[in-house]
Amino acid sequence: MNTLLVTGGAGFIGSNFVLDWISETGSTIVNLDKLTYAGNLNNLLSLKGDARHVFVQGDIADRPLVRQLLAQHRPAAIVNFAAESHVDRSIHAPGEFIQANVVGVYALLEEARAYWNGLDGTAQNAFRFLHVSTDEVYGTLGPDDPAFTEQTAYAPNSPYAASKASADHLLRAYHHTYGLPTLTTNCSNNYGPYQYPEKLIPLMICNALQGKPLPVYGDGNQIRDWLYVGDHCAAIRNVLAKGKAGETYNIGGCSEKTNMEVIQTLCKLLDELVPGSSHCPHSSLITHVTDRPGHDRRYAIDARKIERELGWRPKADFTGGLRRTVQWYLEHQAWVEKVNSGAYRKWMAQQYGEAPTMRRLLK
Ligand code: NAD
Ligand code: TYD
Repeated sequence: MNTLLVTGGAGFIGSNFVLDWISETGSTIVNLDKLTYAGNLNNLLSLKGDARHVFVQGDIADRPLVRQLLAQHRPAAIVNFAAESHVDRSIHAPGEFIQANVVGVYALLEEARAYWNGLDGTAQNAFRFLHVSTDEVYGTLGPDDPAFTEQTAYAPNSPYAASKASADHLLRAYHHTYGLPTLTTNCSNNYGPYQYPEKLIPLMICNALQGKPLPVYGDGNQIRDWLYVGDHCAAIRNVLAKGKAGETYNIGGCSEKTNMEVIQTLCKLLDELVPGSSHCPHSSLITHVTDRPGHDRRYAIDARKIERELGWRPKADFTGGLRRTVQWYLEHQAWVEKVNSGAYRKWMAQQYGEAPTMRRLLK
């Protein structure tokens, strides 16, 4: 019994995890994904015809489907990545976040509980429900505040963060009340291959390559901690193998940067890697636009628990990880073009308006 049920495995982190898990362990993944705008089977093309990847299109809130998959494949663990994941979208349409991130997780937990109750003793002891959450549940930090630990009180500020916090509380309650062997991981901002270009780093790369404005919200001095997605996948493997049931683990990249630092570094990398571009210097495309409502100022992760207890720490340094990411997008323009569908263009127009209407404060 070593099959995993992965949910949301066609999204950014989920698809990286599926590829990583199969190459590292050789065991089978059943991948349940609804294929929302963010789900992309092109991320998993290298697994085409590979019997170790069983893809099922469906919703984690579809309880009969989840029940049937659990009964049929008898997974040793569930790893839940499925979610609506973009803060800006949660500001426009919070209802979809409650449905996927709260109702969906509740449905998955209920089916997991019934399945787990029916396992024999050994399989029951070994079973894990790992839920992938975010550092955004902890709210925002001042410049000199200590980084988030697993003890930091929850204080979510966006509808996205509140929906993820709700799910984390359900996980906690299912462990405490029913004994379900849960694991919750709270990670910082991921970056790397296959990230949908609505998030900061791929958005800036894709816009810069096309000579479009690079929209910086407000002053751009907000701070995030950046985690290379490959390091995150390794951390999840570690937590699955060695994490203690009922525990939560913070996962960070040891790379706190302001958004302006990230964008300036990206521009310099693009100047170097695409020297003949008519958009050089790419920093001339930087455009300050109206800030995100309720924008959290700073996130920072204290990841000492996972290092101390499970021996994991991030390997990628930010500049190296960012260089690899830019190179990946440069080499995968066909992937970007396929993503650049009607749904993507509609979102860009809704969120950013037409380029000339952006408030251009800095050139
Ligand atoms: P993503 O938006 O790229 O992918 C989400 C995937 O979930 C998509 O494939 C989508 O089709 C699928 N999905 C959505 N609703 C579903 C449903 N109801 N049933 C089945 N599948 C559904 O997200 P991501 O960036 O890969 O994030 C994965 C997880 O990690 C999320 O839970 C997110 O909250 C969390 N997280 C992400 C980051 C980050 O920086 N990207 C940081 C912290 C935490
Ligand atoms: P994002 O990638 O949306 O992740 P999160 O909001 O979950 O941290 O944004 C990262 C940071 O970049 C955040 O402070 C918002 C900022 N940002 C911009 O300045 N401009 C943009 O166009 C986007 C998408 C984000």
